[in-house]
Amino acid sequence: MSTPAPTSTSPAPTTDEHRDGGPRGEIYRRLLADLEAVLLGVDDPVTTMATAACLVHAALDDASWTGFYRVVAPGQLRVGPYQGPLGCIDIPFERGVCGAAARTRSTQLVADVHAFPGHIACDADARSEIVVPVLDRHGELAAVLDVDSHRPGAFDDEDRRGLEAVAALLSAHL
Ligand code: SME
Repeated sequence: MSTPAPTSTSPAPTTDEHRDGGPRGEIYRRLLADLEAVLLGVDDPVTTMATAACLVHAALDDASWTGFYRVVAPGQLRVGPYQGPLGCIDIPFERGVCGAAARTRSTQLVADVHAFPGHIACDADARSEIVVPVLDRHGELAAVLDVDSHRPGAFDDEDRRGLEAVAALLSAHL
């Protein structure tokens, strides 16, 4: 069935329809397949993270910044490969959404960054974000994957599932 042209009386599109390439589940399925194919045989963490940052950023229309903060010392994150405007360099585990994801080793889904105590505003236009812990092949925390958006509430549980699947795939290459 073809999609009717939008009219002034059409209901607002759902979030899923904001994204090029169809519903979000399909976008993540394609993203995972692409990542798996491109990373075949890769065991270099920089190559892995740079490739993932590129593909995730390209797949998600809402993403304004997509990238990694790597664990460089106990309790310390430092910016890794990313796409988007200039990111902050160092983030201790005690600070921000990235720090919370690293400290708790659990995904942080933040619909309104201004309501998150200690949010670090690298980009003044950021409104929502999701940060997923990334373990290496030994089960140690290697990094967090941070996706930010200029749109409030841009991410939901489907993004959580999709990005956690991305992180699980990356583990084998880290
Ligand atoms: N928003 C993050 C900081 C990193 S950047 O936005 C690129 C945070 O509060 O952890």
